[in-house]
Amino acid sequence: MTRILAITNQKGGVGKTTTGVNLAASLAAARQRTLLVDLDPQANATMGSGVDKRALAATVYHVLLGTKRLSEVRARSESGGYDLIPANRELAGAEIEMVELEHRETRLKEALTEIADDYDFILIDCPPALGLLTINGLTAAHAVMIPMQCEYYALEGLSDLVQTIRKVRGHLNPELQIEGLLRTMFDPRNTLAQQVSAQLLEHFGAKVYRTVIPRNVRLAEAPSHGVPALKFDRYSKGAEAYLALAGEMLNRAQAAN
Ligand SMILES: Nc1ncnc2c1ncn2[C@@H]1O[C@H](COP(=O)(O)OP(=O)(O)OP(=O)(O)O)[C@@H](O)[C@H]1O
Ligand SMILES: [Mg+2]
Repeated sequence: MTRILAITNQKGGVGKTTTGVNLAASLAAARQRTLLVDLDPQANATMGSGVDKRALAATVYHVLLGTKRLSEVRARSESGGYDLIPANRELAGAEIEMVELEHRETRLKEALTEIADDYDFILIDCPPALGLLTINGLTAAHAVMIPMQCEYYALEGLSDLVQTIRKVRGHLNPELQIEGLLRTMFDPRNTLAQQVSAQLLEHFGAKVYRTVIPRNVRLAEAPSHGVPALKFDRYSKGAEAYLALAGEMLNRAQAAN
């Protein structure tokens, strides 16, 4: 059974892409067949996977507009051990160009049916907005993974996101679940972070991953080398945290079966 997860938070810079790349690499290290879909015109997941966004003839943009199939744009992250559906800046245009098209919210979902069976996990790295690209991600997914920094405004942003998830559930994807909330860039010495973390546990209980991703410079350095932290510094706190997250996810999935 393929599990499709949209990594979403409309707040920028909370660690969505870092989670996409490093979780994909960690799942691959656990022998899971994994695909990472870059759904952000910034294409950070593409570059972070070691694929040059400037050298791509076709990307997810062409898939969304219906001129290519996913199998035709699929690339390989050699450094990460997973497959990648790459993006580049062109994707920014899709947000507008898709408005004219039929079934504009379900284009990624439909495209994924062609290759979903090839994978155990498909991770979708969404852009920091709740526009049509993110809606495509949420519509294609079984569940949402929400990375968040434990800051003052984090909970407020979360209620917007939960509302969007409800809307998508109502109209487009009735089965959509919240897979989990992931605390990122966590600093346990920060009192505010501790407070927000406690509130998060109170509101969302078991939906909050026990694994916490610490602030770790290796996670920030690895993308400039086009590799996940696992390849850059296997024993860094960041690489180990994402390996632990993959383990937690696999254990949860096993417990559910
Ligand atoms: N745990 C971490 N420790 C240190 N730096 C991190 C960590 N997670 C992410 N970063 C850094 O923080 C910045 C934002 O992270 P990232 O790009 O993953 O966030 P994002 O949510 O995908 O951003 P955007 O909303 O722009 O897509 C990046 O420079 C990244 O390298
Ligand atoms: Mg990102």
